[in-house]
Amino acid sequence: MNCLSHFIRPSDWQQSTYEESFRLADLILQDPGKYSHSCDGKVLASLFFEPSTRTRLSFEAAFQRLGGRVIGFSDQGNTSTAKGESLEDTLRIVEGYVDLIVMRHFLEGAAYLATQTLTKVPVINAGDGSHQHPTQTLTDLYTLHHYQKLGKNLTIGLCGDLLFGRTVHSLIEALEIFGGCHYVCIAPKDLALPAYVQEKVKKGKITFVEDLQEVIGDLDVLYMTRVQKERFVSEQEYERLKGYYILDQEKMDRAKKDMLVMHPLPRVVEVDRKLDKDPRLIFFNQAHLGMYARMALMMKTLGVNLD
Ligand code: NCD
Repeated sequence: MNCLSHFIRPSDWQQSTYEESFRLADLILQDPGKYSHSCDGKVLASLFFEPSTRTRLSFEAAFQRLGGRVIGFSDQGNTSTAKGESLEDTLRIVEGYVDLIVMRHFLEGAAYLATQTLTKVPVINAGDGSHQHPTQTLTDLYTLHHYQKLGKNLTIGLCGDLLFGRTVHSLIEALEIFGGCHYVCIAPKDLALPAYVQEKVKKGKITFVEDLQEVIGDLDVLYMTRVQKERFVSEQEYERLKGYYILDQEKMDRAKKDMLVMHPLPRVVEVDRKLDKDPRLIFFNQAHLGMYARMALMMKTLGVNLD
């Protein structure tokens, strides 16, 4: 039996596992120096078959801050994939070199395929196509925990590209583990949440609207997303939809004084930069907190230093 502790989808963890990881991330955040040798002697492979800034750099920074070393690539064009090597063969080779693999791939299900291939080291899914992004979700949940909003029966607006936006797919799956929320899906019909994700909502409640202005005053959290350019077949279709939602001062004036605006980033046009000084916009801190959440995740996955 394969007992490696892979992290492929949010439901791989129970609520208690998330809570343990948040406790650990809190401890690291308070005293990072105490954990600076936790992964001494360990090697991480960071395999990014798709572009990334935050996810890759935060994983790599996190592992180095724990004392570990990192190998990998961020451009598959420089690897044997360009010569026609299969993903399975690449993974079989890499697992002989390292203790842990973090992988982002453009194909849905690639991370699951990795779990069927690897026999020696665990893999963490850093995003598989438009399917799942569980470590962004870990970041999002840790951020909600940090701002004392998690498990508080939130009304959360999910706005933008809910069709291709893997962060939203994973976030809904995870919030259900915490008892569910009222999810207000704010998207045009062409970017609506896929049915298979809607079906995950068992404890919470889900509603669908197209107009952000109409509902913004009801929200405790607004989770903005960019329209996922790279998943569109037609450039014209992307151009039509990319500016569908723009969060601006007029809309923020209608929002609650303590509403939080989250965003997995990168931001393109969907949040007006003039809003950046508004303390309700917490997405830069969200990205910062993600590094600590990933430190805790990797320590747990490797089973190191856990008292
Ligand atoms: C997200 C992703 O890659 O899905 N980015 C990230 O990892 N923070 C969101 C996005 O690219 O829009």
